[in-house]
Amino acid sequence: MLSRTKELAFNALRHVQQGRAYLAYEPNLLPSPGQMRTEGVTSLEEWFRWSEEWSLLLRLFGGLKPHDSILEVGCGYGRVAFPLRFLLDSNGRYFGFDISRNKISFLQENFTPRYPNFQFTHSDIRNTFYNPGGQTAPTDYRFPHEDASLDLVFAASVFTHMTPENMAHYISETARVLKRDGRALFSFFLLQNYRSGAERPRGFSREDFNFDFGLDEFDSRFAVSRPSNPEYMTAYDMELVAETAEALGLSAEQVSPGLWSGTAETTMSTQDMVLLRKQR
Ligand SMILES: C[S@@+](CC[C@H](N)C(=O)[O-])C[C@H]1O[C@@H](n2cnc3c(N)ncnc32)[C@H](O)[C@@H]1O
Repeated sequence: MLSRTKELAFNALRHVQQGRAYLAYEPNLLPSPGQMRTEGVTSLEEWFRWSEEWSLLLRLFGGLKPHDSILEVGCGYGRVAFPLRFLLDSNGRYFGFDISRNKISFLQENFTPRYPNFQFTHSDIRNTFYNPGGQTAPTDYRFPHEDASLDLVFAASVFTHMTPENMAHYISETARVLKRDGRALFSFFLLQNYRSGAERPRGFSREDFNFDFGLDEFDSRFAVSRPSNPEYMTAYDMELVAETAEALGLSAEQVSPGLWSGTAETTMSTQDMVLLRKQR
């Protein structure tokens, strides 16, 4: 009986060890399950699904090409950079910045040595949820890039954690660094897709996604789910996003309503996707 138990335990361990080799071609580029949980992710399936979703959205809507120079705002632990290592060629350049020192240290130590055309920068910018003690106000932050130097800028679930004045400044920085005809692909929770009190899909049924609160300093085109910590989760009316972008010479359109709200008949994305184009 004991030897049978030992055999089962041994087999289980062997499967776990073998499984690691199947986790990814380069498992050292993956953060630990504990680090993934800090992004609200509780399974590997979810992690990779988001990676692949964005790799497709960037090609489909962002027009990503192998030789492009691209910037990811709020790159986290490199969840989207991960599939991009197969999409950018040696002439392509990826830049990512984030306000979390741990995330950027992980990427600088693990990702850049293997893929030198992927560069990561830490910036100590304030966010009421992710970095309340940050030294730099988001509105004072200059993206670390020359004017008109990038083909594509994107942010995966970052404007879902930013208040309107910060969003407006980041869009103005995007307009500055994009080349003419450049594109930006940003995800949002858009209020016109939200129905207060309506049932939402699994993963989004929590009250974290109840965008039922306005803040006095902003108009009704902006909402949060937790007024005591506004940047915990934020939602926008598309009109406010478009108005902000258009004032900066960018066109703006919603290209895919997200799965999150439960109101889209069919969808290609988890969050609502907004494409900006620099026209002049
Ligand atoms: C939900 S996570 C998404 C991370 C990453 N984009 C991904 O897809 O895995 C939001 C990220 O935005 C970053 N963030 C929040 N406010 C920011 C700001 N003002 N500038 C840059 N990054 C910010 C956070 O540190 C966090 O890593």
